[in-house]
Amino acid sequence: MLKLFKNWFGNNRKPARLSLPEIELDKVPAHVAIIMDGNGRWAQQRGLPRVAGHHSGMKNVKKITMAANDIGVKVLTMYAFSTENWKRPKEEVEFLMKLPQEFFPLEIEELIQNNVRIRMTGWKEGLPDYTLNAIEGAIERTKHNTGLILNFALNYGGRKEIITGVQHLIQDVQEGKINPDELSETQISSYMLTSDLPDPDLLIRTSGEQRLSNFLLWQLAYSELWFTDAYWPEFTEDLFNQAIAEYQRRGRRYGGV
Ligand code: FPP
Repeated sequence: MLKLFKNWFGNNRKPARLSLPEIELDKVPAHVAIIMDGNGRWAQQRGLPRVAGHHSGMKNVKKITMAANDIGVKVLTMYAFSTENWKRPKEEVEFLMKLPQEFFPLEIEELIQNNVRIRMTGWKEGLPDYTLNAIEGAIERTKHNTGLILNFALNYGGRKEIITGVQHLIQDVQEGKINPDELSETQISSYMLTSDLPDPDLLIRTSGEQRLSNFLLWQLAYSELWFTDAYWPEFTEDLFNQAIAEYQRRGRRYGGV
């Protein structure tokens, strides 16, 4: 059985925590999705404005990306901004929209060194130019990288994704490209924004909340769910690895026995 121990020497990276060897490298989830929740409460607990929590949360993104990269996760999808988050106070929305233009100049070199590829799942329409430029610049700079895909769900909502997918599907039916009597799960998946990615094997949500909040509704059908009370800014590599270890102990049956 391959243990992470082997990987330490394999890629010459120092492990984050000594508890890592309990992870079996041949059973690492290919796609991990994370709902990074609790930034506001983390800040409020410390007498700080909510946006300080988002800033601290942003700093955690690279750390967890590297932890995922260390063990061989292929895709890491981070819920950065939902279609519902526009309802937040204007100042908070603006702050969140400015995070990519701080994050990428700060972290892109290390991400590139680690062969990470950036991508985005969500709607570009509605995003300010500076947000879009920051993320598109990072996508462009990392487009030939072949390692972990760091996928930001930005201006993303699961129901909107399904509605848009259904609209395209109806169009294709009307044009005779699809036979509705033979519609398959694979075909529906091909109308989702993540059509080129595997479905998440594991969903992590921080902050003690236990709901999906309109995240990857179609794609999470058979995912394992893992929750922690830790707020996102205090979510550590150790907790990430605990989630992976717990995932590896579960038996996935996909409705079978
Ligand atoms: C939810 O916490 C978190 C968000 C809406 C934003 C998450 C975004 C980041 C952590 C940074 C992303 C980084 C980049 C580069 C795009 P909340 O505000 O709902 O917390 P609360 O439930 O305690 O109020």
